Amino acid sequence: MKDTEIILNKAVVLILKYLESNLHPDTKVVNYQTANVLKEKLDLTLPDDGVSLEELIPVIESYLQYSVRTGSTQFFNLLFSGYSIPGILAEMVTSATNTTMHTYDVAPVATLMEMELIKHLNSLVGFNQGEGLMVTGGSNANLIGMLCGRHQVLPEAKFKGLGNHQLVAFVSEQAHYSYSKAANLLGIGIENLVKIKSDVDGRMIPEELEAGIQQSLSEDKTPFFVGATAGTTVLGAFDPLPAIAEITQKYRLWLHVDGAWGGPVLFSEKYKDLLAGSELVDSFTWDAHKLMGVPLICSAILVKNKGILKNVCSGGGTDYLFHDNENESYNLGQISLQCGRKVDALKLWLCWKYYGKKGYEKQIDSLFELANYATEYIRSCDNLELIAEPKYLNICFRYIPTKIKLDDSALDKLNLEIRQILINSGETFVNYAHHQGKIIIRLILANSELQKADIEKFLHNLVNAGKIYEASEVYKRT
Ligand SMILES: Cc1ncc(COP(=O)(O)O)c(C=O)c1O
Repeated sequence: MKDTEIILNKAVVLILKYLESNLHPDTKVVNYQTANVLKEKLDLTLPDDGVSLEELIPVIESYLQYSVRTGSTQFFNLLFSGYSIPGILAEMVTSATNTTMHTYDVAPVATLMEMELIKHLNSLVGFNQGEGLMVTGGSNANLIGMLCGRHQVLPEAKFKGLGNHQLVAFVSEQAHYSYSKAANLLGIGIENLVKIKSDVDGRMIPEELEAGIQQSLSEDKTPFFVGATAGTTVLGAFDPLPAIAEITQKYRLWLHVDGAWGGPVLFSEKYKDLLAGSELVDSFTWDAHKLMGVPLICSAILVKNKGILKNVCSGGGTDYLFHDNENESYNLGQISLQCGRKVDALKLWLCWKYYGKKGYEKQIDSLFELANYATEYIRSCDNLELIAEPKYLNICFRYIPTKIKLDDSALDKLNLEIRQILINSGETFVNYAHHQGKIIIRLILANSELQKADIEKFLHNLVNAGKIYEASEVYKRT
């Protein structure tokens, strides 16, 4: 055990150094290498004879060296950023205790923690009699939401398949692509996932939804599911739930909300109205690995009424696993699509215990303030153009030259180039997206450590990169 202790201590020191340097202003967010170059730099060979634990330390060092620092306050690329010590601790304990979540017998503490978390998440959403489960990501929570909808309208599909029924699902044109994957997997067919038009802010237009439902009925199809979104991937839009719920109730459709990105606003007294009407829906996707800063993956599917998940997810042939005893009702595997399931509860539970509900509220309110700050900065900068009025923590904009007028395709090229320059330099990491035919920069504020100075640094670097590129010979020649 002595050797193990020495190696673990060495690894912890390396990890601590790595985390500390995330916050250092000179640390690059990424040591960018093309895949071909990186393959040369890393020793990826797997030997016939194993190596000592000691020999794994340099491997960990080079892993850290070339990994993207998603914990940096210059990482704005995805809907998560930052790191959490309770989360890291939990992952260590989870690996050390290595178990699966299917039965209470083998995961007693984690099962009780998960059930407690689901109760709290349901209460935030407004599901007083709800149930739920941690799943392998927001995409899979959306899949289960759609499966619940399929089961509501056509329970026999579980046993006999869809037969001649042509089921139709509806999402907004801004919805996440996981809904298409769900439509594929559930036999609905991607072409039977109707994308409803959204307004200028990216919110689903309820009148268009109703027209879409009527259209599908007139074609003798069976509308069954509406997938609304709370916090869309690009614009951060929140679909209007009360108006949508009125329509789904009228036509008896299942209403699911993809709250993977936007769900945590429910922690904030100030901003929770963005999700007004959440208690009216049937199921809800929650990703704690996005805005709550819990290590990936940490997601849940929440369902308003108890008993549905077991009906929908159970398959039979499980008597070798689920035994009748006093803890039978605690066997979460009975309501899961998985058999073996990683313990994701401990990391969320420890984070929640550490920050508390109020801590999360404070973090979220502070990110909203920063979003306002970034928006005003962009508005006041001649070289930047806001693409949509931000309603959440997504700020979409693009760089525009002040000296020459460029058409949209030249602006697209310029913005792509600026983003790549920033990544190559390691200064900052931000993503781009397509919106209404334009390429835009999507700034995401998800890291609870962010300060105004980080936003200033990012926007300053971006404008600078734009100006330097504009003045460069390469650009003049293109
Ligand atoms: C709105 C939305 N829903 C769902 C997902 C998928 O979540 P996950 O990556 O946890 O599968 C994303 C991912 O970014 C998203 O933006």
